[in-house]
Amino acid sequence: MKHLFVMLLFAVFIAAPLTASAQKANTIDEIVASTDSSQCIGCHTDIHENWSKSWHAKSITDPRSLRTFRTFILKGVDKNKNPEVKRTMLRDMCLMCHAPAALNASDELAVQIAGLVVTAADEKDAAKKEAALKELSKLDINCITCHGVKTPGGLVEGHPPAPPEPNTIFGPGDAKNPPHKDFGFNTVKSENMKKSEFCMACHHGCPPGLSSKECPTQWSVYQEHYIAHGGKQTCQDCHMKGKGGESHRFPGIYEKEFAATAIDLTLTATPTRHFDHLKDIMMPAVVMNVQLKNNSPHDLPHG
Ligand code: HEC
Ligand code: HEC
Ligand code: HEC
Ligand code: HEC
Ligand code: HEC
Repeated sequence: MKHLFVMLLFAVFIAAPLTASAQKANTIDEIVASTDSSQCIGCHTDIHENWSKSWHAKSITDPRSLRTFRTFILKGVDKNKNPEVKRTMLRDMCLMCHAPAALNASDELAVQIAGLVVTAADEKDAAKKEAALKELSKLDINCITCHGVKTPGGLVEGHPPAPPEPNTIFGPGDAKNPPHKDFGFNTVKSENMKKSEFCMACHHGCPPGLSSKECPTQWSVYQEHYIAHGGKQTCQDCHMKGKGGESHRFPGIYEKEFAATAIDLTLTATPTRHFDHLKDIMMPAVVMNVQLKNNSPHDLPHG
């Protein structure tokens, strides 16, 4: 949970300007009107399928995250004696990364969303629980969350992701004439999509200037333990490999094969002999030499 500590730091830093500038929606469907990515599925079937299996696709509805949000609301907010601490803090401290679409929510809607989280986590009635989950899933990180903003955080350290720009699809710029105009979307090239900074907005929740010791995130560790030692690959190079939509699967620590690429294990065994003083005999033995190399730019173990 060092993660949560980091987030608290971050939230204190950005919460004020964020709420001041947000546009307000009063229902989830109003938010969805500008963030729905179901219209991308028809043409980008493979990418969509891979995305739907990624952690991004359940960034609010994954049971593990959901339970933590619930605990944050019930223990961190409701039990707090300070009247300034309100349920809108879920939006301002967690959802800005886990569901940036919720940045558009009015205070009333943000409180409703917090209520849905509690229902989705704790409700005994399966139908009600399912209904709450379905509503929340509309806010999970989708195509528009990443492709609707030029850079999620303006490439500025300590800046949270931004809400999407209307009718715009930012892309890496490799495609020839994507037919997005046909349904009213402009395609705009953004160099930033190929940069690691693109991921920083969400994968680094620290105010500027903190070291990886003070604020250990995927970004700060990557900078200090990898780039500074000559590492050349971007987050995308490692996490967005593969053809046929696999780029959007975003494998991480839970994918055995992918996680295994982080470690080179070299074992050498040399036969020798060992003299057992108690039994007063010479017996066969081996000398083991174990070398572990971490190829990933992340600490091991971590998480
Ligand atoms: C700066 C963006 C950001 C903020 C703010 C944020 N998170 Fe996260 N969170 C992430 C990212 C990125 C991951 C996935 C990467 C990882 O597992 O380290 C994650 C993973 C998680 C996980 C699963 C892994 C774990 O560490 O247990 C939980 C649960 C979670 N967050 C809860 C919360 C809660 C609760 C809040 C609000 C108090 C919050 N997050 C605020 C970005 C954020
Ligand atoms: C977590 C952020 C994120 C999400 C979510 C996301 N994308 Fe992407 N996408 C990227 C990035 C970053 C690139 C550029 C990768 C590169 O060129 O290195 C990209 C590239 C692409 C490309 C061009 C290259 C390729 O991989 O074919 C297409 C098309 C695309 N995305 C469509 C989609 C669709 C459709 C969805 C939703 C189903 C989606 N993306 C969801 C971040 C995201
Ligand atoms: C009518 C079909 C269609 C729909 C709907 C559609 N796309 Fe595309 N898109 C394409 C085609 C075709 C390409 C070009 C593919 C190529 O050249 O590899 C493309 C390319 C892209 C690219 C890469 C652009 C670049 O900069 O290189 C992105 C990103 C993208 N689409 C995202 C989306 C998102 C997000 C949605 C939903 C809002 C969407 N698309 C809806 C057909 C579609
Ligand atoms: C050289 C390849 C490589 C690069 C570059 C890289 N990663 Fe990873 N990443 C891995 C591997 C391998 C794993 C799984 C093993 C591990 O956790 O170290 C992983 C694990 C992760 C995880 C899941 C583990 C966790 O901490 O919860 C996240 C999230 C992640 N990386 C995000 C990023 C981001 C963001 C960047 C860029 C700032 C990045 N990675 C750069 C290879 C890479
Ligand atoms: C809008 C915020 C956002 C952006 C932008 C974003 N991520 Fe994530 N990412 C998250 C959150 C939140 C999670 C955790 C979801 C959960 O576990 O509930 C996550 C999860 C992941 C995981 C899986 C972690 C695990 O534990 O296995 C990987 C890998 C990952 N992201 C890589 C990337 C890379 C690479 C980029 C940049 C191309 C990127 N992300 C951009 C928010 C974001």
